[in-house]
Amino acid sequence: MEFATESNRLFIVESFSPIRYPKRYMSNLGQLMEHSPFCERDIRPPHNLQTIDQAGDFLIQTKKKGMLYGIHYAHHPFDVVGWDGCCYPYAFSIHDFEPITGRVHQPPPVHQTFETNTFVVCSFVPRLYDYHPEAIPAPYNHSNIDSDEVLYYVDGDFMSRKNVTRGMITLHPAGIPHGPHPGAVQKSIGKKKRRNWQ
Ligand SMILES: [Fe+2]
Repeated sequence: MEFATESNRLFIVESFSPIRYPKRYMSNLGQLMEHSPFCERDIRPPHNLQTIDQAGDFLIQTKKKGMLYGIHYAHHPFDVVGWDGCCYPYAFSIHDFEPITGRVHQPPPVHQTFETNTFVVCSFVPRLYDYHPEAIPAPYNHSNIDSDEVLYYVDGDFMSRKNVTRGMITLHPAGIPHGPHPGAVQKSIGKKKRRNWQ
């Protein structure tokens, strides 16, 4: 990967099963539907492939079930000009994710971006708070019966948490009730817009 600047943070998620778009946003013909927070236009596939046609000894590390397997190739792996099929790397900027908001507090699945056989990835992006006149924008206390909740705080102010700053990770294990820190619910009343990323 090449970056435009030197100051970067990477949060890498790996999965034993394919990472897909949420099923409920897909038509049975495999297209993203109109109620999806992102669409095909936001997906950036490879373009202008840099082809390297070179013989030599190239070690490729393939990861399977947590183990790395070294395979030696006699040609540079980038000796292609295109591909067949539908398996390829792509980029999706979270700045293109259109948040779903409501008069009352929306449940976490509205933030879902991807899913696998065993976990989902949600993106909590800056958005309008709940706009019912008596809405309480802070999330309610809850307990995830059968899933752990890992949060990575990307940027901004985190309304429901004290002493949490960007770059931190929190873990709420399955079955443990949790919610906003004391005082956060009262402080959230009347707030109009959320500015953080997680
Ligand atoms: Fe939670």
